[in-house]
Amino acid sequence: MEIAATIEQVRAQVRAWRQKGLTVGLVPTMGYLHEGHASLIRQSVAQCDRTVVSVFVNPTQFGPNEDLEAYPRDFDHDSNLCQSLGADLVFHPEASEMYAPDAATYVEILSDMPKQLCGKTRPIHFRGVCTVVSKLFNIVLPDKAFFGQKDAQQLAIIRRMVRDMSYGIEIVSCPIVREADGLAKSSRNTYLSPAERQAALVLSKTIFMGQDMVQNGETDVHKLTQAMRDAISREPLARIDYVEAVNAVTMEPVAQIHGAVLVAMAVYIGKTRLIDNFLVEA
Ligand code: PAF
Repeated sequence: MEIAATIEQVRAQVRAWRQKGLTVGLVPTMGYLHEGHASLIRQSVAQCDRTVVSVFVNPTQFGPNEDLEAYPRDFDHDSNLCQSLGADLVFHPEASEMYAPDAATYVEILSDMPKQLCGKTRPIHFRGVCTVVSKLFNIVLPDKAFFGQKDAQQLAIIRRMVRDMSYGIEIVSCPIVREADGLAKSSRNTYLSPAERQAALVLSKTIFMGQDMVQNGETDVHKLTQAMRDAISREPLARIDYVEAVNAVTMEPVAQIHGAVLVAMAVYIGKTRLIDNFLVEA
């Protein structure tokens, strides 16, 4: 497995693969890889001849008061995991390789889509995500790119960007991977103290409760999300950012569970903001 720090190294390797007629999968990550990332890498290795994993903590998707500096990093662990899973190339650039000091070009969806859900408290987040993912697409030119359903709004936004910008790339979504006790895997789980780790279970328990309500016939979004909020409010260490149901494609709020609906939440446990969701298929 090769480790590349420069865009040119990646381009040269991908060119060589292309000349041999090989297909290429891309797994974009911010590192500190866990079983959720591993499931994306496994999918790419299974579906593509060659797999590139990018490990880059992207500064443009963090707001001024967010956790850019504190974001966990462990490149040795990440590269070992990539190798053990059969990845062929890890792209691990410095921020200066990705962004010129006077970089001023962004990719941004100018609808309400990035303003819903996480966009309400993270107004520049999805502009940063679209910009870096679009740069990675231009650098790697993959046939397929793999993203987790845990970041459901990100996934919907990237699908929209791919459509709007005519990227000839298939976006593959992979299911949420959970700890044995239900907590969705996240690099940010590492911020949690033992008491907060226990309290964080309120997210997955509430997701499962919401899923049961829908399976048992609840279609009224107000009743559903209110019951979910009530359940979270009973956990003293939890503070709700949002609990909402939206159209799974457009991210517009819905009043009824009808068609493809995303029920999503962001909840602070102490200072750590965690997300979780479930999808109601059409
Ligand atoms: O989901 C993430 O880890 C990041 O948002 C991504 C897609 C790698 C872009 O930096």
